[in-house]
Amino acid sequence: MEKVNTLFKVNEGGPLEVTGNFRVVNSGGKIIENKEPVYLCRCGGSSNKPYCDGSHNRNGFSI
Ligand code: FES
Repeated sequence: MEKVNTLFKVNEGGPLEVTGNFRVVNSGGKIIENKEPVYLCRCGGSSNKPYCDGSHNRNGFSI
């Protein structure tokens, strides 16, 4: 795979896995995460958005 600074990997039926050099900032602009990897919710079901909390395993998310 080509070397990149930040990689966004779509996990089938699960979260978006982010590795590399990145920052996650909240709506106020504060850095809330800067360590890799981070798993971001794609299903909309997480109670801890923007992070995955495993809810995708229970809500039928499959893409
Ligand atoms: S992708 Fe895991 S809780 Fe949404």
